[in-house]
Amino acid sequence: MVVSSATIDSLLKEKEQYPPSAAFRKKALTKDDALGRDAAKDPEAFWARMAKDFTWIAPWSKVLEWTPPFAKWFVGGRLNVSVNCLDRHLAGPRRNKAAIVWEGEPGDRRVLTYHDLWREVNRFANVLKGLGVKRGDRVTIYLPMIPELPVALLACARIGAIHSVIFGGFSARAIRDRMEDAESHLIITADGGNRRGAVLPLKKIVDEAIADLDLVQHVVVFRRAGLDVPMREGRDHWWHELMAEALPVCEPEAMEATDPLFILYTSGTTGKPKGIQHSTGGYLVGVATTTKYVFDLKDEDLYWCTADIGWVTGHSYIVYGPLANGATVFMYEGAPDWPEPDRFWRMVEEYQITILYTAPTAIRAFMRWGDEFPKRHDLSSLRLLGTVGEPINPEAWRWYQKTIGGGRCPIVDTWWQTETGMILITPLPGVTTTKPGSATRPFPGIEAEVVDENGLPVPSNKGGYLVIRKPWPAMLQTLYHDPERYQKVYWSQVAGKYFTGDGARVDEDGYFWLMGRIDDVINVAGHRIGTMEVESALVSHEKVAEAAVVGKPHPIKGQSLVAYVVLKRGHTRSDGLTKDLQKHVREVIGPIAVPDDLYITEKLPKTRSGKIMRRVIRSLVSGQEIGDTTTLEDPGAVDEVRKWLAEVQGTGS
Ligand code: WTA
Repeated sequence: MVVSSATIDSLLKEKEQYPPSAAFRKKALTKDDALGRDAAKDPEAFWARMAKDFTWIAPWSKVLEWTPPFAKWFVGGRLNVSVNCLDRHLAGPRRNKAAIVWEGEPGDRRVLTYHDLWREVNRFANVLKGLGVKRGDRVTIYLPMIPELPVALLACARIGAIHSVIFGGFSARAIRDRMEDAESHLIITADGGNRRGAVLPLKKIVDEAIADLDLVQHVVVFRRAGLDVPMREGRDHWWHELMAEALPVCEPEAMEATDPLFILYTSGTTGKPKGIQHSTGGYLVGVATTTKYVFDLKDEDLYWCTADIGWVTGHSYIVYGPLANGATVFMYEGAPDWPEPDRFWRMVEEYQITILYTAPTAIRAFMRWGDEFPKRHDLSSLRLLGTVGEPINPEAWRWYQKTIGGGRCPIVDTWWQTETGMILITPLPGVTTTKPGSATRPFPGIEAEVVDENGLPVPSNKGGYLVIRKPWPAMLQTLYHDPERYQKVYWSQVAGKYFTGDGARVDEDGYFWLMGRIDDVINVAGHRIGTMEVESALVSHEKVAEAAVVGKPHPIKGQSLVAYVVLKRGHTRSDGLTKDLQKHVREVIGPIAVPDDLYITEKLPKTRSGKIMRRVIRSLVSGQEIGDTTTLEDPGAVDEVRKWLAEVQGTGS
């Protein structure tokens, strides 16, 4: 990862403050800073205390074994995550409580109680075993947002298989690459899933992905959309047929706390996605504890996190965190504007949702669609709002607070990453006075800091790199079979500290203000995309010689992708070719990575040593100050890039 030597200076200055209301505080799980004080004194004792809430098959002998950069939490402890999310609740009044309340995009509904979910998970765990899946094997999951998705995750957890979920917006090629990397022999999918009135043909995409992938032995297909799909004899199996034959009870595996629970691929700064590997015990304790305190979660809540389980937010805050707390989780299959832009608010009113956790990009889209849509509905059941995925602009924060929260609900702006597994910087809703646009302060037990390029703390209100000083329970264990890359990406930038890749500043009250990525990862509509990944996709097209991809500000998506492409000799630019290239990216990575703007140009601006000046292009495209980056280049370079950009953009594609 290249770290710019530029010091990032923040321009944001917000004085506005929102203390928790007396009414909210009165009922909140935490009302004062006792947790924080406790945790600061002895973080390990704090996490051990949190861990005692769960069911352990064998107790741990050591809370933390820290051999930098590898952390082992609850060493010697044995447990099963599915037991903690399901069996634990069956013994008491939660047995017949709704675990999942689900609505499909066409309007169909299902409710699964904890006992129902337990039954599904047990049977499906036996299905997986019947197909030869063993402890430690990797199972790929490519499903729409239907209850079978959490069932599949928990079934893997029950038998100790490591799941690797792939978001439905990824293409056949992306599935193929991830299955190969994970050496996964089995994939779980559906015939199709509903999205904005259309059906996404998931099985067809899987067929394409594995056509020449001998590694894959089994495909389990859930019938969701009623599509006519070819089933290959011996390889493809219908979910319902296997379930009908499966035994009803599956004994949970006693997993080591340090065994991996899952891998989840995420974009990095190279063309190759990283397989983020998470643990069993530490991950469970980290996500369950943060779910409880950040969302002030109570048994009577109906909690809705609008993320897709294909991303880490869905893993941690739809499946594992809430279910470990015995919560009722609302789940929705489709698009927020289908059939109309009031879909979310209709469901909030109808189901009486109390907690809503969504993303700034969605909030900005709602703002743009207009207040009339939320105003059509009674949203008074809501008592807490959350946001995640990118910095939220204060204007969107205020709109969320007023129009959706009725001025009554605290907002938790939660900062974290696929790698951190759990929320690390966040308000505690009954305790923290919030400021629009700030994720406020580290969660109890977390030590975050903003440093300069030498790793030294910067003064307050000065921009720098966000690092985490000590290991935390849900911290990634490593990158799947690539410990060197793990060490290099996260632990070599600032000695001894976890490098987040985010810029931030801390204000005079100790509040953290996140300023976005400082590496070549950009955040499009809350989805992390590595610009290098898109560049490699572009240059894999037969007519492309070179490509540079940068992010530029976008009013709804936060950022959008802009690509500059140089063709191989003998090819000429045309509208058709531009479309072809966009289609190619869609095929190689998926629709989420297709650049909104794609310019075909004669050359790319380069340094004397031949490096493409991405940073300069990015700054100019974003209308930002160039800052120190100029010192890296030859002095005339910036003007040249400016001239080049005007020409390229002027001529169109
Ligand atoms: C960004 C999503 C500002 C950040 C959970 C981080 C945020 C990246 C926030 C991780 C927030 C996430 N404020 N920025 N509240 N939450 N980010 O891995 O740049 O998909 O590094 O995890 O999103 O994205 P990821």
